[in-house]
Amino acid sequence: MKVAVLGAAGGIGQALSLLLKLNLPAGTDLALYDLAPVTPGVAVDLSHIPTAVKITGFGKEDLDKALIGADIVMIPAGMPRKPGMDRSDLFNINAGVVKTLAEAIVVNCPKALVGVITNPVNTTVAIAAEVFKKAGTYDPKRLFGVTTLDVIRAETFVAELKGKNPAELIVPVIGGHSGTTILPLLSQIKDITFTDEEVSSLTYRIQNAGTEVVEAKAGGGSATLSMGQAAARFCVSLVKGLQGETVNEYAYVEGQGEHARFFAQPIVLGKNGVEALLPIGELSAYEQKAMNDMLGTLKADITLGEEFVANAN
Ligand code: NAI
Repeated sequence: MKVAVLGAAGGIGQALSLLLKLNLPAGTDLALYDLAPVTPGVAVDLSHIPTAVKITGFGKEDLDKALIGADIVMIPAGMPRKPGMDRSDLFNINAGVVKTLAEAIVVNCPKALVGVITNPVNTTVAIAAEVFKKAGTYDPKRLFGVTTLDVIRAETFVAELKGKNPAELIVPVIGGHSGTTILPLLSQIKDITFTDEEVSSLTYRIQNAGTEVVEAKAGGGSATLSMGQAAARFCVSLVKGLQGETVNEYAYVEGQGEHARFFAQPIVLGKNGVEALLPIGELSAYEQKAMNDMLGTLKADITLGEEFVANAN
């Protein structure tokens, strides 16, 4: 098994790589790639941790070597938000980053499972899909926008509010990964009820949790440690799926298009990536209205990505 992390020297990349060094199965090759000159050093540093995961660092010129034969590629490369920025403000820089990396995936590991973390996820996943489609390698079962952070945040905040153990909670979060497109389904949590006031304040907090971190870091970046954990959890689930386990997760994938071409929803992972798309279940009136209200934004974000690739040379 080979896992490649692209953007491995960044805030998320380093946390993710550390957690993967600790949690991937023995014998896995972990390839770290980043443009930053520190990348080989990050790999050497992590290589001193005594686990049976073999770690190799690849510098700027070695993207192909980092990717060749990869079974899974995780992409946290690109610019994070600063205070006052919306995720869509990152489009101008990150669209090109994701396009370049997706083109290298086509050449080196077209069958890999690809987890896109780079924001704006609503749009960058569409960019990767269109690059793969143009090259004739697109398989919707193998491309994921990583929305696990929304799920773990929702679990944490609900547990805090209700005095529960977050490890025992499952909070579905569907839609996309920005602002109101992030839709927690609080009505589906087992054995917990909320007042209308709690539903609206919790929903708002989950949707704006990224901004909470961006503001608290005061210009020093966005969520990196919690995102590292979220990405590691998702990557380990992909690995388990490839090894034949069936694993339930939430991710932003191209499903049957009932709501939008890409939509974060419950999925079952297996040997070929998405093994099954699960229904989103029943929505409360509040959630149904929130979904109707955000679909226009989500669809526009997706179109932006599709057009970016269509208009590129
Ligand atoms: P960072 O600035 O700490 O790290 C980004 C890394 O990407 C840097 O090391 C940089 O050298 C590298 N990079 C840039 N262009 C590259 C390229 N073409 N090839 C390889 N590496 C490249 O940023 P951070 O905090 O790690 O965030 C990374 C991305 O993840 C941002 O776009 C951020 O918005 C996004 N993010 C996504 C979340 C999600 O839930 N999906 C949550 C939090 C952040």
